[in-house]
Amino acid sequence: MELKDITDKNRIAWNAVMPYHQRVKKQEWDRNFHQPGYIIQQEPELSKLKELVIAGKSIIHLCCNNGRELLSLKNMEAAYCLGVDISEAAIMDAKGRASNCNIDVEYLRSDVYDLGKEYSEQFDLVYMTIGGLVWLPDIQRLFAIVNRLLKPGGEFFIYDSHPFTNILPWDGDTDTKIEISQPYFHPEAWEWSDGMDYYGGAEYEAPVHYEFTYTLSEIMMALIDNKIEIKFMGEYEKDISCGFEWLQQRNMKLPLSYILIGQKQKDINDGDKTNKPGRSTNSRI
Ligand SMILES: C[S@@+](CC[C@H](N)C(=O)[O-])C[C@H]1O[C@@H](n2cnc3c(N)ncnc32)[C@H](O)[C@@H]1O
Repeated sequence: MELKDITDKNRIAWNAVMPYHQRVKKQEWDRNFHQPGYIIQQEPELSKLKELVIAGKSIIHLCCNNGRELLSLKNMEAAYCLGVDISEAAIMDAKGRASNCNIDVEYLRSDVYDLGKEYSEQFDLVYMTIGGLVWLPDIQRLFAIVNRLLKPGGEFFIYDSHPFTNILPWDGDTDTKIEISQPYFHPEAWEWSDGMDYYGGAEYEAPVHYEFTYTLSEIMMALIDNKIEIKFMGEYEKDISCGFEWLQQRNMKLPLSYILIGQKQKDINDGDKTNKPGRSTNSRI
């Protein structure tokens, strides 16, 4: 299947789940962001963002969904903020909240893989958060685009579920047996059609969608290959996925999330090899 067929199927699946997510979370987020200066990020992310210094930076948030995290970065006095998401429903939700709460950020409905040259070297920070990476079928091509979006010396920040969690049963409880239920190495796409309402647990027949689990080395090598120097990596016991709270509660000292910070090398700008054949060694399609 072509990359565009996959991302378009995922777009349809995200449009379908957004009303369920809004049912559970919209009021809470609207209320929160009506408070001036409200920040949704928590530790350990917050400290790392403070170290990066958000004030005055131009930021692009890839796979921004409802836009809440970007609103917070604006509340930390970021300069120009652009959130990108493939789902019409997600972007409509994000735009509505920004406008109702009078926070000056922009949202763009676009496939990350379609971001044009007009965005090249426009950003001090490319930001990705929980649950974004897993939807993107070609990690090499993604980080080539990240390189292209960044100004020289600009930074990349990702806070996501730890690849270690790829092998564990999702959404257990106190009786769930801890066993390896999925492979760590899984170069193929995962094809699903079960519901994606991780907030409310609504059961509905979801449009077929595709996810991609990357190993730690695939993530790091895709950054290195695309001239993004790794400046920081941290692993945390905190679950940020809604799926492994049951495991966090058992206090087993497992890596459930990670932060990676990279920096575009200043004098080398040969990042976006999107159109060069044979480049995407970690492409899953
Ligand atoms: C799990 S959500 C992100 C949630 C967000 N971090 C939060 O905590 O609110 C993943 C998002 O990625 C978006 N997405 C998936 N594939 C994409 C693509 N190819 N380009 C842009 N956005 C994409 C989906 O529409 C969805 O909104």
